[in-house]
Amino acid sequence: MLRPARTADVARVALLEADLFGRDAWSEEQIGAELSAPGRAMLVAEDPADRSGVAGYAVLGVQGDLADLLRIGVDPTLRRTGVASALLAHLLGAARAAGAERMLLEVSEANTGAAAFYAARGFVEIHRRPRYYRDDAAALVLQRAL
Ligand SMILES: CC(C)(COP(=O)(O)OP(=O)(O)OC[C@H]1O[C@@H](n2cnc3c(N)ncnc32)[C@H](O)[C@@H]1OP(=O)(O)O)[C@@H](O)C(=O)NCCC(=O)NCCS
Repeated sequence: MLRPARTADVARVALLEADLFGRDAWSEEQIGAELSAPGRAMLVAEDPADRSGVAGYAVLGVQGDLADLLRIGVDPTLRRTGVASALLAHLLGAARAAGAERMLLEVSEANTGAAAFYAARGFVEIHRRPRYYRDDAAALVLQRAL
């Protein structure tokens, strides 16, 4: 089940962040700020086995005709079960409803799983930032029309 994130989710999202993004993870403070920032939508997917748990989460920013998918992450034990697809489908709808005409995101070229996920969902590379991440991997800027 998808629902808007609430303050009680911040600690669990921060644990997932640390697990998924390591040194680039958002802190609890940053996640709390995202939760209340104007023009942001933070969505969580509840863990079906533990309704107070978080199976995945995603953060969208919309400014004018541009939507930015700022984060999407799924508990490693619940991958390939459609959690990210459900989160993304909801945010694509929310972005359209807010008037956005395209969605952008950044992903490391080394993150082949996420790149495959986005490619399967219609995102195409429009730009590449060489040596963007700490491991020297390039950042791929991907776009999808809404
Ligand atoms: C990328 C990520 C969000 C995908 O989440 P998920 O819930 O497993 O994705 P879904 O189950 O909805 O996947 C749907 C489709 O995406 C593609 N896909 C997802 N993960 C993939 C992988 N590791 N390798 C290849 N294809 C993949 C497949 O086409 C998959 O369909 P299939 O399972 O029927 O083959 C998840 O792996 C994750 O949290 N990664 C770590 C955080 C991250 O990298 N976030 C993105 C940063 S930009």
